[in-house]
Amino acid sequence: MSPRATTAADDLHERIEQLAEINSGREGGGITREVYTSDYERASEYVAELMRDAELEVRLDSAGNLFGRWAGTAPDLPRVLTGSHFDTTLNAGRFDGVVGVLGAIEAVRELRRAGLQPRRTIEVVGFAGEEPRFGAGCIGSRAMVGAITREQLDQMRDRDGVSVAEAMRGCGLDPDRIGEALLDGETVHALVELHIEQGVVLESTGAQIGVVERIAAPHDLRVTLRGSAMHAGATPMRLRRDALAGAGEVVLELERLALASRSGSTVGTVGVLRVSPCAVNVIPGLVEMDVDIRDSDLAARDAVVDALLAKLEETASRRGLALTISTLTRDDPAACSPIVIDAVRSTCEELAVRYLEMTSGAYHDAMVLSAKVPIGMIFVPSVDGLSHHPDEYTHRQDIDRGVKVLAGALARLAN
Ligand code: GLV
Ligand code: MN
Ligand code: MN
Repeated sequence: MSPRATTAADDLHERIEQLAEINSGREGGGITREVYTSDYERASEYVAELMRDAELEVRLDSAGNLFGRWAGTAPDLPRVLTGSHFDTTLNAGRFDGVVGVLGAIEAVRELRRAGLQPRRTIEVVGFAGEEPRFGAGCIGSRAMVGAITREQLDQMRDRDGVSVAEAMRGCGLDPDRIGEALLDGETVHALVELHIEQGVVLESTGAQIGVVERIAAPHDLRVTLRGSAMHAGATPMRLRRDALAGAGEVVLELERLALASRSGSTVGTVGVLRVSPCAVNVIPGLVEMDVDIRDSDLAARDAVVDALLAKLEETASRRGLALTISTLTRDDPAACSPIVIDAVRSTCEELAVRYLEMTSGAYHDAMVLSAKVPIGMIFVPSVDGLSHHPDEYTHRQDIDRGVKVLAGALARLAN
């Protein structure tokens, strides 16, 4: 990925709109800008330009994570990281991740305008590939904590069969050098990530800012059920091995299990069903489904996963279906660090902002980084809780408030 000149708008909200114009334009609307595509590369060049405008020293690591550094007066002290991602899922909104990257650049500009000289270096980061184009998300942050191997870059593939390694090469990154993205945790004091809430908790309580205390984590499975693709008219009901009818049982059982979970907070989703051969007059012979189960309570999540696996075995055996199961991702919930929570909370109190301590139901790069560094997150409200949706929206004044809180938290953490 190489730098290229762009004319960047002066206003944060216009910059968000400019970035939204870098969009692969998938049918169904919204923003589609998946990691390691030419559109992602263009977006990375645009964000690098914004970083340079804010007088940040720009570098790209071997995983495609983009950094902009503001050197502190004590550059040997562990630094403060802030940022999020600017790739999107399919038919997504323009704020998910982007608010945390462009908002971090804006927070730096605000701190410079206020005359701050940070003691610790502050580094803005745009993490590569938070969204799960290749089955698992957070590729860039996983590379930073050493949680992704060179072999996985060949094994993990997108829906068109393109591997991470191939896609990386396509935008000038060398997958053989992935190990160079490894972060020395000792060199980082804390990470604070600003993000839209993506839910209705803030809106429904009237809080202006969410101070995240913990992040729920996913256990994602890819399941295949293989039956027999026979004639839909000529095959009597009792002589079928219908993979989709089996999958249907499993989808409803997951909903029941999550609703009845012991924590009351487990969520379960089947977001992908690929049916073959997918013809109205053929019994579905093969179904591939991607299952996402999350909770901040690991034991409760594991209980739902175990019960679902038992249901899969039982359904497959009763219906004569061949079953395979692989793990796409299995992360641990993350606790936010008291130093970041205190910095965010104190800033909210100073600015007389109504805040709420809360759990993040979505995962974030901060969850992955928590393996190595103290983390925390700041949430701003999402209108109607919509996210991963073309109509995702956050009011400008809420974004501006989030940036102010981020700037205050950065000033506290860096001094
Ligand atoms: C992140 O995009 C998530 O799915 O939580
Ligand atoms: Mn997302
Ligand atoms: Mn996000």
